[in-house]
Amino acid sequence: MIRSHATTPIEGQKPGTSGLRKKVRVFAQPNYAENFIQSVFDVAERAPGAALVIGGDGRYHNRTVIQQAIRMAAANGYGRVLAGQGGILSTPAASHVIRKHGASGGLILSASHNPGGPDEDFGIKYNVANGGPAPEGVTDAIYARTQTIDRWLAVEASDVDLDTPGTTQVGDMAVEVIDPVADYAALMEKLFDFDGIRRAVAGGLTMAFDAMHAVTGPYAHEILENRLGFAPGTVRNGTPLEDFGGHHPDPNLVHAKALHETMMGPDAPDFGAASDGDGDRNLIIGKGIFVTPSDSLAMLAANAHLAPGYAGGLKGIARSMPTSAAADRVAEALGIPAFETPTGWKFFGNLLDAGMATICGEESAGTGSDHVREKDGLWAVLLWLNVLAATGKSVRTIAHEHWQRFGRNYYARHDYEGVDAEAAQAVMDGLSERLAALPGTRVGDLTVGRAENFAYTDPVDGSISRNQGLIVAFERGSRLVLRLSGTGTEGATIRLYLERFEPTDGNLAGDTTTMLSDLVSAAEELAHIAALTGRTAPDVVT
Ligand code: G6P
Ligand code: ZN
Repeated sequence: MIRSHATTPIEGQKPGTSGLRKKVRVFAQPNYAENFIQSVFDVAERAPGAALVIGGDGRYHNRTVIQQAIRMAAANGYGRVLAGQGGILSTPAASHVIRKHGASGGLILSASHNPGGPDEDFGIKYNVANGGPAPEGVTDAIYARTQTIDRWLAVEASDVDLDTPGTTQVGDMAVEVIDPVADYAALMEKLFDFDGIRRAVAGGLTMAFDAMHAVTGPYAHEILENRLGFAPGTVRNGTPLEDFGGHHPDPNLVHAKALHETMMGPDAPDFGAASDGDGDRNLIIGKGIFVTPSDSLAMLAANAHLAPGYAGGLKGIARSMPTSAAADRVAEALGIPAFETPTGWKFFGNLLDAGMATICGEESAGTGSDHVREKDGLWAVLLWLNVLAATGKSVRTIAHEHWQRFGRNYYARHDYEGVDAEAAQAVMDGLSERLAALPGTRVGDLTVGRAENFAYTDPVDGSISRNQGLIVAFERGSRLVLRLSGTGTEGATIRLYLERFEPTDGNLAGDTTTMLSDLVSAAEELAHIAALTGRTAPDVVT
């Protein structure tokens, strides 16, 4: 029986770059999740009887929201729900399941790399039929609906058994509890040379994968250990926990410190990798060598043809603006277009749908391709493994040979977190006003070539996104980028991106900190971060 529950609008339900993210306490309030989900159902484009995918990263509150979403979907005319067993679906796997099963969309319950638990974060994101995050027009409509909503609908039904695969009926709707790994693993087997990787593993290739007690555990166990034959124990922290073991499931050198130490130590395996809460980010570390996400994108693009799924070549390479230009040099060598988009995976969607780009990546540890419409942590790991197996080379050799061929983009990101919002804005405004006067001037030993406030015109739909970050480009390929984070939760986070290009005959074996030191001074001279915020050093360097 369908029941209509009276409700009133709740403020602040505007989805951000990756859906609605709030503390669990906020989501657990009466009607909070229900209002948002009903707003999604009220505006989502779908035919009667359409299928909906539901799954999450396993964090605290995941199951509660899934059960309620199922009762609501049944009351809102869906014909079928596909739910991941145990409430689990990684973000890229959910994207694939939506596409493969022709669903009209999906609810992905995650707050990505943010901590989980009763006092931590939760999130709901709606993805549309192409498997990608709802475009702004849709999220705007959802938000508008949250401001007028007066009822939500649910059938009266008890909880579904999420732990046993199979189909149950909830009202007139079928709920299929599916193996969260099966479809995704099958897709990976199509894209990559699993036989070749298995042979390399049998021949001694070793790796360590840190699942950070988050969603990729079951995927990594199945794919890396069961299918590819890596030794048991290769996957660390492989059981998803509701609080991620109390850690930040963020695969960077700070939060994946243990893995980094292993990889820099005497007993390091050949390859190290990690993924985040919902499985879309990746960290790549070779024996004794960290590969920046920007370099990883470039190196994967340069070698992608070695994997069966990309043997026909790439149509184009896209990167977000703050990501280093290393990938552009690969695109140039391959004779394919390079695209520079604003920060945020959603900007790649149109390029992928239009067949203009095949591989995309961001400095924020996201890499992926047109196989789904999300970034994909394990996909990047498997492409690396495919390249290592096909070449028989180490990560270090691949990196060094890459730099010898294309030159090297030394790169670092400095984050100033929890900065007073007004001070952060003053930094941005100050530099923004000085931009026009900068070209041709000298800062230390550097000469400014181009200075601009980045704006993007989408080549597919012509839409324009302005104010996407400040760029000061110096002669010979060095660059500073300054932008405010769009995902921070407390105060403002200033991100300063530093990049220095060394050509093939330059210093390719330098220490990153040393190579970037004159850019750090130039940044202070130009942006006055210390002077305006009182911060003399970044909180995080990645
Ligand atoms: C999310 C998006 C990424 C984006 C990142 C930027 O993770 O999924 O596509 O790169 O946010 O975060 P920022 O904090 O720099 O705005
Ligand atoms: Zn994520």
